[in-house]
Amino acid sequence: MVGRIIAIDGHASTGKSSLAKYLSKEFNCIHINSGSMYRAITLYMINNNLIKYVDKDIDYLLSKLSDIRIEFKEVDDKLKLFLNEKNIEKDLNSLSVSNEVSNIAAIPEIRTKLVKLQREIDRSKGVIMDGRDIGSVVFPNADLKLFLTASIKVRAKRRYDELIKKGANITLIDVINNIEDRDHKDSNRKTSPLVIDDDAIVIDNTNKTIPDQVELIKEIVKSTFYN
Ligand code: C5P
Repeated sequence: MVGRIIAIDGHASTGKSSLAKYLSKEFNCIHINSGSMYRAITLYMINNNLIKYVDKDIDYLLSKLSDIRIEFKEVDDKLKLFLNEKNIEKDLNSLSVSNEVSNIAAIPEIRTKLVKLQREIDRSKGVIMDGRDIGSVVFPNADLKLFLTASIKVRAKRRYDELIKKGANITLIDVINNIEDRDHKDSNRKTSPLVIDDDAIVIDNTNKTIPDQVELIKEIVKSTFYN
């Protein structure tokens, strides 16, 4: 994997990050969850009462972008995301962040800032990056592009169980609405919409466990990189 890039894009809650985490251990490379970067900016906007400016005054909102510093730092051998020096990973997957993040991610200036950071990440060990535009925009020359999808029912149930385990007070309908809303916004925005690249391999994981997917991708990697 040294120096190589695997892009994993796909629909919301298809388990891209969980899969990428396993794969990065398997291939001894780094994993970057680019969605966490959009979520971190959204969290900052919510916590600083700025989210209302998404519709009202985008220039004002953008003037605050320079106050936001996003970095990945190694903690216990894993890369953790820091927002202005604070590890905020545990706050990123709440439904309040999920409900706003696609509006923030549709703003071109915010995408430019994050795509730049994504391209600057040290790739010497190899990198698996997951998101929505990794194969299409961030690394169009990635060595392998995967696109994950699954039925809405299975995606919503997985995300619901995960949030309930963390003590969230939500219903399955809340989660379904959020996933459908994000897929719609992410696929229809003007800048870098979610698309299936011509050279991406589509994996429908509705009926696949993570170990099933890891095995499948190991085979794909073998035939793509070493043949
Ligand atoms: O991957 P995750 O579901 O955490 O991403 C949250 C949101 O961030 C997506 O719904 C999308 O709006 C945005 N995103 C994006 N481009 C990426 C990664 C995430 O627009 N590369």
